[in-house]
Amino acid sequence: MDHINTPSYGLFFICFFVWGTNYILEAQMVPAVFVLGDSLVDVGNNNYLPLSLAKADFPHNGVDFPTHKPTGRFTNGKNAADFLAEKVGLPTSPPYLSLVSNSSKINNASFLTGVSFASGGAGIFDGTDERLRQSIPLTKQVDYLLTVCEKLKQQRGSTSAQNLLSKSLFVVVIGSNDVFGYSGSSDLRSKNTPQQYVDLMALKLKEQLKRIYNGGARKFVITGIGAIGCCPSERNKNKTEECNEETNRLSVKYNEGLTSMLQKWKSELKGISYSYLDTYSILQNFVQKPQAYGFVDVKAACCGLGNLNAKFGCLPISTYCSNRKEHLFWDLYHPTEAAHRLIADNLFDGPSQFTFPLNVRHLVAV
Ligand SMILES: *[C@@H]1O[C@H](CO)[C@@H](O)[C@H](O)[C@H]1NC(C)=O
Ligand SMILES: *[C@@H]1O[C@H](CO)[C@@H](O)[C@H](O)[C@H]1NC(C)=O
Ligand SMILES: *[C@@H]1O[C@H](CO)[C@@H](O)[C@H](O)[C@H]1NC(C)=O
Repeated sequence: MDHINTPSYGLFFICFFVWGTNYILEAQMVPAVFVLGDSLVDVGNNNYLPLSLAKADFPHNGVDFPTHKPTGRFTNGKNAADFLAEKVGLPTSPPYLSLVSNSSKINNASFLTGVSFASGGAGIFDGTDERLRQSIPLTKQVDYLLTVCEKLKQQRGSTSAQNLLSKSLFVVVIGSNDVFGYSGSSDLRSKNTPQQYVDLMALKLKEQLKRIYNGGARKFVITGIGAIGCCPSERNKNKTEECNEETNRLSVKYNEGLTSMLQKWKSELKGISYSYLDTYSILQNFVQKPQAYGFVDVKAACCGLGNLNAKFGCLPISTYCSNRKEHLFWDLYHPTEAAHRLIADNLFDGPSQFTFPLNVRHLVAV
């Protein structure tokens, strides 16, 4: 009914869409990509959080981005969200906060090919800094997503919006910050065993996935947590610069809970399909067989200061390496563009040992 009340918008949207599909986005494989998650896929939302310290809108971030400027991405160039969008023939989904801060964009067709809600520092759990707005926690990201789904329904009509949403990809990359949070908090550790904590993470994620499903999503792309005990910040805490086994074990435990939750969820809800990416195994392969992937240094950050460039983050005063394609890590926490590209390759076309039950190429064709 809503679209009948606003015929001009409805018409505008349909025209834009047909025009867009036929001419601009010829190779487009899905109508839209909606991205939720943390700094691994943030494309600039945190730039709009005035009080946040979790930002990457300063050099040397972005040094290899097409513009050679910082964009808010926590890496030297593009991240996995950019590469995935390229693979499905779409522009990178713009940051939600860049749209709402600009009424001409939110009222026009800017979000028709997707929106990104991802925010550096975000976790599955809300955290305690909501008032300081360091990041947009997952529950809030889903609130925003549901607002966009409603807007689409108002503008296109319920059937057409539902059709668009059911064919679109909903990418969820989250959980690393919750694992870091547990490792770093004696309070959390005293209240929960590792198993209890990761079970709570999977439970809470499932609640959010259900809300996304109720908004109209049917195709999900969900990544496990990587071997984050091997990132430079964690190695730097160990005298022999080895991976933090406890952090890695917690990540594996969570991934086990996540994969079994997803399997169960799919058997309950026949209408959904998903790709799960075993980021942990991929990262571990990078670390164990660097040469096979073109890496020379999988321990030190490219940009930073101090031992392993991991004592300080990638700040304007930090130094950065020239062989960025040979580094696994850009800064003390985040992969380089080169690593993001390989991760996206595996997500899209990956073998079933890394991406299951479907890779994204098969997911879009379902
Ligand atoms: C709003 O978006 C339009 C279209 O992309 C752009 O031309 C304009 O500069 C933006 N305004 C602000 C305040 O960012
Ligand atoms: C968005 O739509 C408004 C009218 O609703 C128009 O004035 C404006 O130019 C449009 N902006 C863009 C970027 O298309
Ligand atoms: C360093 O890492 C190794 C291998 O995980 C571990 O055996 C050792 O206890 C760690 N040392 C410290 C100080 O954490």
